[in-house]
Amino acid sequence: MSERINPAIVPKRKLYTGAEMPALGLGTFGSDKYGPDAVAEAVYGAVQGGYRLLDCAEVYQNEDRVGEVLEKLLAEGVVTREELFITSKVWNDNHRQVEASCRRSLENLKLDYIDLYFVHWPFPNYHAPGCDGDSRNPDSRPFSVEEFMDTWRQCEKLVDDGLVRHIGMSNMTIPKLEAVLPLCRIKPAALELECHPAFQQQELFDYACAHQIQPVGFCPIGSPSRPERDKTAEDVVDMEMPEIEEIARAHQVHPALICLKWAVQRGQIPIPFSVKKPQYMGNLRCITEDPLTEAEMERIAGADKNCRLVKGQVFLWPGASGWEDLWDLDGTIH
Ligand SMILES: NC(=O)c1ccc[n+]([C@@H]2O[C@H](COP(=O)([O-])OP(=O)(O)OC[C@H]3O[C@@H](n4cnc5c(N)ncnc54)[C@H](OP(=O)(O)O)[C@@H]3O)[C@@H](O)[C@H]2O)c1
Repeated sequence: MSERINPAIVPKRKLYTGAEMPALGLGTFGSDKYGPDAVAEAVYGAVQGGYRLLDCAEVYQNEDRVGEVLEKLLAEGVVTREELFITSKVWNDNHRQVEASCRRSLENLKLDYIDLYFVHWPFPNYHAPGCDGDSRNPDSRPFSVEEFMDTWRQCEKLVDDGLVRHIGMSNMTIPKLEAVLPLCRIKPAALELECHPAFQQQELFDYACAHQIQPVGFCPIGSPSRPERDKTAEDVVDMEMPEIEEIARAHQVHPALICLKWAVQRGQIPIPFSVKKPQYMGNLRCITEDPLTEAEMERIAGADKNCRLVKGQVFLWPGASGWEDLWDLDGTIH
């Protein structure tokens, strides 16, 4: 019989609504490397193996295949709908048609509700999936509180209408949150943000926690398989950081698992991607055993390199000076 982790022993996080979310989930963005079939097969194996949280998005172009697998898992009685926690996201070109986008995700995922629906990026700036890092869309424009709130109002309506249980934001900054949170009728339950040992975003993490917004960490092991076009010479490789390597040796596990233990013990929900069964099962198992010591947690906290991997330069607008403009580094909205 193949390995299974009892979902009851996987830690949970409580959202401000009282709903529970597993402390680790499976990412489903195959990028250029893994097609829909590989991702769907991984979802099937992962849910059989005890995963209950899946991080999906329309732009990942595989929700239809993921949906077929979910239907099969539900029909086979492997899991019930209530036991699953499924996220999806509205992509940048659908900020004016959020309901249509959400309904498409529901149809593709073959679900009648989504547990947590994110605004994937706070800009309506579209770029074709897989496009070159230097490509720019002349229609791109900077963040606008008004435009964002129009999108958010549509998200709030999804909750009112029962299409989604929670709504969340992604790729935000403190200045943007400061501007929009007071205007939200329904507060975001979660914030998806890049988070790994070399890029801990401590201030944003603390800000989210202080506002009862659950951080969900993407690229939790440093996204080693991202396309070459998304790598720069300065990027730090998390799994090769001396602190991570040494702690991995002490625990006799792969450095990837140290990144995940750290994430869960710190409090964000990591959503590592893998289509390889030994990897994704190891990723779930590691957070149920052999935790890091306080000293190890502190050592990793001190190892932050402020190294953002998903810079988002393809979303820049004409006149922007560089990818840093997307992230409000001087504390004001650009
Ligand atoms: N909201 C957003 O804007 C946003 C942005 C990016 C990502 N995400 C979400 O976050 C998820 C994760 O991000 P990501 O895929 O970029 O990065 P990641 O999870 O940090 O890295 C995934 C890669 O790590 C390797 N890996 C996984 N488990 C491993 C293990 N146990 N041992 C060794 N290597 C392991 C695999 O490489 P190999 O394939 O080479 O084995 C895998 O492809 C995505 O799938 C997506 O759902 C959201």
